[in-house]
Amino acid sequence: MSALSTNATVVVIGAGAMGSGIAQVAAQAGHPVLLYDARDGAAKKGREGVLANLGRLVEKGRLEPDDAAATAARLTVAASLMELKGARLVVEAIVEDLAIKRKLFGEIEDLVAEETILATNTSSLSVTAIAAGLRHPHRVCGLHFFNPAPVMALVEIVSGLASDAEVLDVLVATARSWGKVPVRATSTPGFIVNRVARPFYAEGLRLLEEAASDVPTLDAIMREAGGFRMGPFELMDLIGHDVNFAVTRSVFEANFCDPRFRPSLVQQELVAAGWLGRKTGRGFYDHAAGAAPPRVRTCSPAPAPRSVVIEGVLGPAEPLAAALANAGIPVECRPGEGLIRMEGATLALSDGRTATARVAGGAAADLVLFDVALDYVTAKRVAIAKADQAPDAAIATAAGLFQSLGKTVSLIGDLPGLVVLRTVAMLANEAAEAAHLGVATPSDIDRAMKLGLNYPKGPLAWAQDIGVGRVLETLEALQAAYGDDRYRASLFLRRRAASGMALM
Ligand code: NAI
Repeated sequence: MSALSTNATVVVIGAGAMGSGIAQVAAQAGHPVLLYDARDGAAKKGREGVLANLGRLVEKGRLEPDDAAATAARLTVAASLMELKGARLVVEAIVEDLAIKRKLFGEIEDLVAEETILATNTSSLSVTAIAAGLRHPHRVCGLHFFNPAPVMALVEIVSGLASDAEVLDVLVATARSWGKVPVRATSTPGFIVNRVARPFYAEGLRLLEEAASDVPTLDAIMREAGGFRMGPFELMDLIGHDVNFAVTRSVFEANFCDPRFRPSLVQQELVAAGWLGRKTGRGFYDHAAGAAPPRVRTCSPAPAPRSVVIEGVLGPAEPLAAALANAGIPVECRPGEGLIRMEGATLALSDGRTATARVAGGAAADLVLFDVALDYVTAKRVAIAKADQAPDAAIATAAGLFQSLGKTVSLIGDLPGLVVLRTVAMLANEAAEAAHLGVATPSDIDRAMKLGLNYPKGPLAWAQDIGVGRVLETLEALQAAYGDDRYRASLFLRRRAASGMALM
């Protein structure tokens, strides 16, 4: 199916942050664009915002002045909804309220031709519900851009129950012709990105509630070991706790209170206090000018081990063997179960069980677990946790090993799955469940998470790299430890682990 031709008129309704951005994208792609807003002066202001953006692109040398002028000429303000008549595509980006959106779509339907495509930029409402009651619900789809729309490449193309396959195909091709990367999703709560991302925040909040460590340390582990651009708490402070909590709540409620999406009391307290993050100067962090910089808990320098014995393969941590040898530490390799033995400590990569449970199950009494890193060679930090039974001296011994590789080390509480592994396992589980339920294809899910949120790897590709078996063990250990259905593993993961088939 081909994209809409550039002489097709696009009408954008709602000239706020999203509508203005979408209008800019369509106008830059060559379409005549009409921008309409119910609030007096809002569409004019939205257009001026677009012109200012175009001016900045010209200043930076990213846009030719002629192209900016032509784009500006293609973007006009509509004084009333009556001007919709000639639209080939209408994109709605008004307030997130089902009743108001449904009323607007009813009015639009009376004005436009039967073949006009009607798209909604809703981020949380059901596309099916928005289209319900219309005479031609088959031409209504979700066209979910990310903020800021001109910058973010991802667009989720969402099919409601009645959406026509051909209409969806036209939107996919059109988004592509606008320079975007479209992914297809069904109309389910949170679509892809807002659903699969929930554990990124939720597991961080749980770890904080359980005193695994403090906010700056958990953020530093996710950044410097996990390779995420921001840790969960700094990201929530940026998004705003009111917005982030509302999305979590809406996905939770829309899933009939499935514990996988359960919101956090800690975050609810922040919202209640009005500590909404950067925009109010206070969230998990104090954003006031002159506030003390956050302190990350880091182990003191300890001597490097004189030698190590690596027993068996370390799985995703295997690059540590070569890195230790490169650092001049004598390494002896023996068959075994994936352990690093040193005088005074035994190290193992987390498989979801706590160190304390592993010692109780027969592991060495000086066991220290370490967390998953995105890349053990380049990671700046590694998190470790000690079994209750292990002597305190084992911490320094374990820290000394990672410090000899130039890394800083954070000691955290001995909780199942530690920090990065636990979060990535839960992200992968949600991605797997979305794939299992046909919300989107595995490759579109991974693409969406990388492009929509700048994750360093798609959750499914990451789980593949860690090992599907280890991810599954981690989820099973979490479910056993907490007795909580929140951690139940997706059948998709179980089946792929059993068959050995790749996740994507
Ligand atoms: P906004 O509050 O910045 O803009 C909404 C605009 O719609 C306002 O200018 C308002 O005057 C106008 N409006 C309200 N009711 C109207 C009506 N009946 N007819 C015409 N205009 C009307 O909101 P924002 O952030 O641009 O969000 C718009 C939509 O995009 C929502 O559905 C939201 O969920 C969705 N969205 C928002 C994202 C974000 O990061 N802000 C990201 C992706 C989607």
